[in-house]
Formats: sequence, C-alpha cells, structure tokens
Amino acid sequence: MKFFIDTANLDDIAEAQALGVLDGVTTNPSLMAKEGITGEANILAHYQKICEIVDGDVSAEVISTDFEGMVAEGEKLAALHSQIVVKLPLIADGIKACKYFSDKGIRTNVTLVFSAGQALLAAKAGATYVSPFIGRLDDISTDGLNLIAEIRQIYDNYGFETQILAASVRHTMHVIDCAKLGSDVMTGPLSSIKGLLKHPLTDIGLAKFLEDYKKGNQ
Ligand code: E4P
Repeated sequence: MKFFIDTANLDDIAEAQALGVLDGVTTNPSLMAKEGITGEANILAHYQKICEIVDGDVSAEVISTDFEGMVAEGEKLAALHSQIVVKLPLIADGIKACKYFSDKGIRTNVTLVFSAGQALLAAKAGATYVSPFIGRLDDISTDGLNLIAEIRQIYDNYGFETQILAASVRHTMHVIDCAKLGSDVMTGPLSSIKGLLKHPLTDIGLAKFLEDYKKGNQ
C-alpha cells in the first residue's frame, strides 16, 4: 500500500519524506488555507515546493465547479510539474473533466467520494485515483472502512485500474485496516504514519539490549 501524507505543511512533508516511506502528498483547499497559502501565484508556488520535497504524486485540487473552469485550472496545474495529479470533486462536471483529462493522459484524483456508486462512476471516467473519505463517514456513524471493501470488490470484479486512495484517514488503525482491505493507497496526517512506529515492547526491548551491552562493554 502506498503512503501519502494529507497536508500542505512543508515541515511535515519533509519529515515523512526523510523517513523513507512516503509515496506522495494530497492537499485540498482547506489544508492550503490552514497553512496561510492564498492567491493563485502563491498556491502554484507552494505546489512547486511540495513537488521538490516529495518523490511521488502530489494531488492539487481545482476550485472551479464547472467543466470549462475545471479543465482550464487542471491544465494549468498539470503543466506546473510532472508529479501533479489533478484533484476533481465528484460532481457531474467533475466526472466529465475526469474523462477529459484521462483521454489526454493527465492523471486525476476524484475526491469527496462517499458511496460505492460514486466510486464506480469515477472508475468509468478513467480516474487514476478515487478518494473515499473514511473518517468523515465514521464521523456520522457510518462505517467508512466498509466503503473501502465495497469499492475493492467492485473494482476487482471488472478489473478497473483506478487506484483506491483511502482518504480522511485519522489514525493508525485506519491505516492498518485499509491495508487489510486491499486499499492501494492511504492518505493521512503525519501522526497516522508515525503512530505505526509505536510499541512499548520495542522500547522496553531496546532499553534492555542497550543496558546489557553496556554491562558487558565497560
Ligand atoms: C483527501 O484527499 C482529503 O484531503 C482529506 O483526506 C480529508 O480529510 P479530513 O476529513 O480529515 O479533512
């Protein structure tokens, strides 16, 4: 399973990249705003910086909600860097734009996916990635992981090549469960990746090894 980090924070991206397990980055307008990145020139420059840090795909989301606007924005984003993946919302014009980009060989990430039917549409439109938001479904007492399982089954039934990008991942158990269910990618905060390191028996074991080494090498 590929690990993407879901942030526009350059320090977090650099830390995950330095760990050696990062495969890409996802951003969205809220994450860009959180870092205080506003105005088209600054936004494009920020995507450029992210691409320079990470060795992998960087999802950059369009703001337009009409086909022509999405195409114009997406073409500008895709031209920025070869690592950019155009992120489109799952609305009718987003699906049309996805098909347009897919026919042109431009990679896409269809976002704001909350049902298996939406994921089926994204795959039929040739999306490179589909982003089911598991955390936001969990937030409303609906099983987000079940959606990953449903999409996996549907895509496998027909050999769709669209990659399942489990999004809105909130913690390490989401990461592990997505891996068990065969999600192709997960995107989460740095804490969801670093949390995988933690086990008290590792810490206790290491302390004992070092203590015993010290005893024998004084
Ligand atoms: C996905 O691409 C989104 O950026 C993201 O995962 C949403 O996560 P949230 O529900 O924690 O905001």
